[in-house]
Amino acid sequence: MEWTCVFAPASIGNAGPGFDALGVAITGPGDKAWARRVPQGGVFIREILGLSHGIPIESGLNSVGIAARGVLEALGVREGLELRIQKGIPSSSGLGSSAASACAGAFAANVVFGSPLPREKLLPFCVESERATSGDAYADNVAACLLGGLVLIQSYDPLEAVSLGALEGVQFVVATPKFALSTRESRGALPREIPMKAAVANMSAVALVVAGLLKKDVHMFGQGIRDHLVEPFRSPLIPGFHTVKAAALDAGALGCAISGAGPSIFAVATGEPNARVVGDRMREGFMKHGLDSIIRLAVMDHQGTRLASPEEGEETA
Ligand code: HSE
Repeated sequence: MEWTCVFAPASIGNAGPGFDALGVAITGPGDKAWARRVPQGGVFIREILGLSHGIPIESGLNSVGIAARGVLEALGVREGLELRIQKGIPSSSGLGSSAASACAGAFAANVVFGSPLPREKLLPFCVESERATSGDAYADNVAACLLGGLVLIQSYDPLEAVSLGALEGVQFVVATPKFALSTRESRGALPREIPMKAAVANMSAVALVVAGLLKKDVHMFGQGIRDHLVEPFRSPLIPGFHTVKAAALDAGALGCAISGAGPSIFAVATGEPNARVVGDRMREGFMKHGLDSIIRLAVMDHQGTRLASPEEGEETA
């Protein structure tokens, strides 16, 4: 039986102000899964390559496996799935690593059995995988990774996501410090109630991001990248956060916020030359706090999870 290869891109959860409600897929790193049908029922992960440190190979404990199992059960197939995985996104970095794995698993399982489900219908299996691995059923990363571009979680009950498309010319700069911050820990830092003033500020910012995308106004989009809701509670978990954010804005970035649950911090620059300067300043900001970081420049990935070409997602830094 032939192997099918799929690629699932990295994503920025929350896309700044939209906690659990907005997400955006980005170009660059991603996870790959090779999958093929096998006669025995179940999901069998044969190997995990790349940035695989500490990821369990048991399919019931692994994001790829959990999502793939959900799809197979929904399809009611008797045969099973064999998988090989190439992790291109570091875990616990704030770049949607577990989401990409879940999307790769669900997408591959569906494709191998003839693509009976439209991609939107794969979303619940990916969210279930997020819940199983991080303890909470948030959908912003998986929806962005699956559908591409900017996505809005319209509702959690029932689970519905709206794809808003991609905006050309938005230049992201993502600084990933070399330490891991688990989503579980980062969510654990959040309060149960939020101040009205912060809620109002974030409503404006979410509207700016969405309006910027729909009006194709990169500046408006970038100016919406600010967060008053979760940043005060999560920034203490990221050494140097305020230095790095101030450095990005001083260098001309339009907006700056924590990427997903962190510790990555992302900014929107005014173009590629500005992005290089912003990236250098962000790296220096982390260095002032004794942290090395990886700087990635990216644009929106408008395709989402897809059949892979051999070159995609080969980053292993
Ligand atoms: N919306 C989630 C959070 C994304 O911020 O916790 C996790 O990557």
